[in-house]
Amino acid sequence: MSGELRLTVLGAGYLGITHAASMASLGFDVLGVDTDAARVDQLNAGHLPIYEPGLEELLGAGLEAGRVKFTTSYPEAAAFGDVHFICTGTPQQLGSNRADLSQVHACVAALAPLLDRPCLVVGKSTVPVGTARRLAAELSQACPGAELAWNPEFLREGNAVADTLAPDRIVVGVTSGRAEQILRQLYARPLAGGAAFIVTSLETAELAKAAANAFLATKISFINAMAEICETAGGDVRDLAQILGADPRIGPAFLRAGLGYGGGCLPKDIRAFVARAEDLGAGASLAFLREVDAINLRRRARTADLAHELAGGNLTGVPVCVLGAAFKPGSDDVRDSPALDVAQILTGMGARVTVYDPAALDNARRARPELSYAPTLAGAARGAHVVLLLTEWPEFTALTPDRLGGIVARRNIIDARNALDPVPWREAGWEYRALGVAEDTAAEDTAARARLDASP
Ligand code: UGA
Repeated sequence: MSGELRLTVLGAGYLGITHAASMASLGFDVLGVDTDAARVDQLNAGHLPIYEPGLEELLGAGLEAGRVKFTTSYPEAAAFGDVHFICTGTPQQLGSNRADLSQVHACVAALAPLLDRPCLVVGKSTVPVGTARRLAAELSQACPGAELAWNPEFLREGNAVADTLAPDRIVVGVTSGRAEQILRQLYARPLAGGAAFIVTSLETAELAKAAANAFLATKISFINAMAEICETAGGDVRDLAQILGADPRIGPAFLRAGLGYGGGCLPKDIRAFVARAEDLGAGASLAFLREVDAINLRRRARTADLAHELAGGNLTGVPVCVLGAAFKPGSDDVRDSPALDVAQILTGMGARVTVYDPAALDNARRARPELSYAPTLAGAARGAHVVLLLTEWPEFTALTPDRLGGIVARRNIIDARNALDPVPWREAGWEYRALGVAEDTAAEDTAARARLDASP
């Protein structure tokens, strides 16, 4: 293997599309492979099946330069690639906490028998520790010149292109110096930009991703556990998070208390991590992650209870406006969306729920067709007795109490992302409730702050 390396990217999901377009932008010739012919046609026409800022432009530039294209053909991929990236999804198994590895296995099973020359296969999917070692054996049995490396991906939705082209760190699990050299060559540009290059074993590379997501989830659930304590003891979790975050050993990131984490990664990754530890006989080590998950899910129930309270103890037939369907702003992804879960719980409590989201309505309709949706914020809020802000889109955080007050029937709002300033809302006659702030303390604090603001 020498000269210009040619790359394939197996699996054209979030990760695969971003990786293919990014590697093309670094000057490599890339062939993306997916079994979904409609998706392949869509991508070859320059259209994204997902919402990701900057990615369509990057893909368009790659297509125009002839550096990237997509196919359904594994024989074409095997003939084309010097390096094959596995980017298939690893969702949660139905009826279990384990990761469903069927797409990863199908991809290796399709590729391995077709390999007839030395190549490097690089896993990027999030897999349970131990998977890479097994895949390496399968590959080298099929083709003695085929080697496996593991190179986990840390990209965030909404930031995928920047996270890929300018990452903090590039982690490579390798079993030879040759694999390391190839990966250094592929990532020369991000490395020159200052990314740390960490060379380790296959197992540590697999664990790196699981551990990073487990830590992030733990940080969020830690502050949400503090929110629960604040609610009962009379504290304010926003002030608490600011105080904790000012300590550089703790840091402010991922200490935003509220409705908790969702999405296609954090929830299923920590469950799969626990399941893998249990399979390895090390379940006690990760037992705390079960509590992290439980804290996270409790926030959804608590939010619904707050709405029940604001509706006077009975939600039957009460018009409720849910602002947000995406699992976070800047994304149209509704996988394990806390917002949609809350909408569903409220519907189960008898409320007449209408959901609005600036980007995720189509996906939400497909995922939860039983819920009602409105194409505009005003359409969802008209006549509402309770409004819940569940995803902190700028369109929602920019709302003013008077504007929304002119649309709703009753001025009740739950700020489940701690995204609004309570003072003007309360001053405008709203019953404003947030997660992590005891009701009495919040009202007193608001009054005190308003007095302070008003004093000369
Ligand atoms: C996450 C990780 O941040 C990435 O590093 C990782 O590569 C990715 O999963 C993955 O495994 O592929 P992502 O799912 O895009 O990325 O979303 P995040 O930005 O991490 O947010 C996750 C959830 O946590 C969202 O629902 C967000 O609303 C919530 N969150 C985040 C909080 O509730 N509080 C916070 O302080 C921060």
